[in-house]
Amino acid sequence: MKKFLPLFPEQASTVANDVDLLFWFLMGVSAFFALLICVLVVGFAVRYRRRSEIEVPQPIHGSLALEVVWTVIPLGLTMVMFFWGAAVYFRLATPPPDAEEVTGVGKQWMWKFQHADGRREINELHVPVDRPVKIRLSSEDVIHSFYVPAFRVKQDALPGRYTMVWFEATRPGRYHLFCAEYCGTEHSKMIGSVVVMEPGEYQQWLAGAPPARSPAAAGEALFTELGCHTCHKSEGTALGPNLAGVLGSARKLKDGTMVTADEGYVRESILNPQVKIIEGFLPVMPIFQGRVTEEQVNDLIAYLKTLG
Ligand code: CUA
Repeated sequence: MKKFLPLFPEQASTVANDVDLLFWFLMGVSAFFALLICVLVVGFAVRYRRRSEIEVPQPIHGSLALEVVWTVIPLGLTMVMFFWGAAVYFRLATPPPDAEEVTGVGKQWMWKFQHADGRREINELHVPVDRPVKIRLSSEDVIHSFYVPAFRVKQDALPGRYTMVWFEATRPGRYHLFCAEYCGTEHSKMIGSVVVMEPGEYQQWLAGAPPARSPAAAGEALFTELGCHTCHKSEGTALGPNLAGVLGSARKLKDGTMVTADEGYVRESILNPQVKIIEGFLPVMPIFQGRVTEEQVNDLIAYLKTLG
């Protein structure tokens, strides 16, 4: 089912056909019942019309068979929709472990991307064909939504937390990237392209730019520049927790609750450290909200990843 209708955008990702099949199933069921109900409304109106002034209708006292039929059939159909929809959703929500990682930041009114090697782009995203790509999204201001119709993926980018979207493009080309959440005056201009390239061509493209500082290196420099290292020491008594191996680990908070120190936790702990204090430490870390940009937070997270 390459191009079912000319109205549809082309299918250019591994999930596109799955999404379309589900969509067509929902459309088919809706159309079938809309038609059936129309035909029955008109048919019954004609068949059971009042034929004379003195006609008295036969009362109906219900039919168990009919009740069972119109309960069981819709139940079956909605269960198919539920499990099929859940299967497609889980596929969309679970990136393959070997996915290439890109960070994306939405901002009034542009998309900013950074590749793992440090290469930055605005309103354009270059990716290799036949490789899963995972984008960690955030926003610098309001809610935006990352939407690539040809890939059948759409994911909100929210201020204050990370979201994730992944896709595997199946053919080279240039595809529309839209912001699908009204985000202000120039929302309609918040558009760009995803450029899908053959692997060789992609490597060439990556190599073609002046060598960029990797996010991890930028994060390390920033870590020193902001003075983080003065409290987060790797040995001895320190004011802040040792950060080696923190990312992804389970941590115990002052009030006894356990948290997973994922990217969202780390982000919050940089921007607003008083919210969740690790057991055994004092709430002495300054607030970095407004002092570092979303991209700098991404750099710091990349640096933390290198600490193991
Ligand atoms: Cu960003 Cu609409």
